Amino acid sequence: MITKLFATRRELMIGAIQATAMLVLSRSSWAAEILPKMTVTRDPNCGCCGGWVAHVKAAGFPVEVIEAPDLAPLKARLGVPDALISCHTAEVGSYVVEGHVPASAIKRLLLEQPQATGLAVAGMPAGSPGMEVSGTPPEVYQVVLFGPGSQHVFARYRGSQAL
Ligand code: CU
Ligand code: CU
Repeated sequence: MITKLFATRRELMIGAIQATAMLVLSRSSWAAEILPKMTVTRDPNCGCCGGWVAHVKAAGFPVEVIEAPDLAPLKARLGVPDALISCHTAEVGSYVVEGHVPASAIKRLLLEQPQATGLAVAGMPAGSPGMEVSGTPPEVYQVVLFGPGSQHVFARYRGSQAL
């Protein structure tokens, strides 16, 4: 009787250990799917940059924000072409992300891993993530894949919707 009770408790303990091991295993495989950290450099006085940071955070990116009053030297160092300049500049994985690029385009970039410097949405199109203006219909805009001496259209969006 006592032996039986002992065995039952032992079985219970093994069960608990197995459950813990499974939990650890599932948590680590979940961790492997986590998106790479994004570093966003922004002007502290720019409101739309904050809106875009909230957008990429909501999409699952861990974000570190650096505030800088002048972003021109960083953009030049990272190879952002003058024609594609916007407000904030982000770095994720080995890529540069300039301006209000939708998170879904960044995820596609990280999945496809094209040979490029990064993605940009030039200027600040109305309705792009962080640039939503109530009462203003979202514009159609281009997400441009750029590298040294090459640029092509990676995607077209209206608001945060890929076309
Ligand atoms: Cu902006
Ligand atoms: Cu911005």
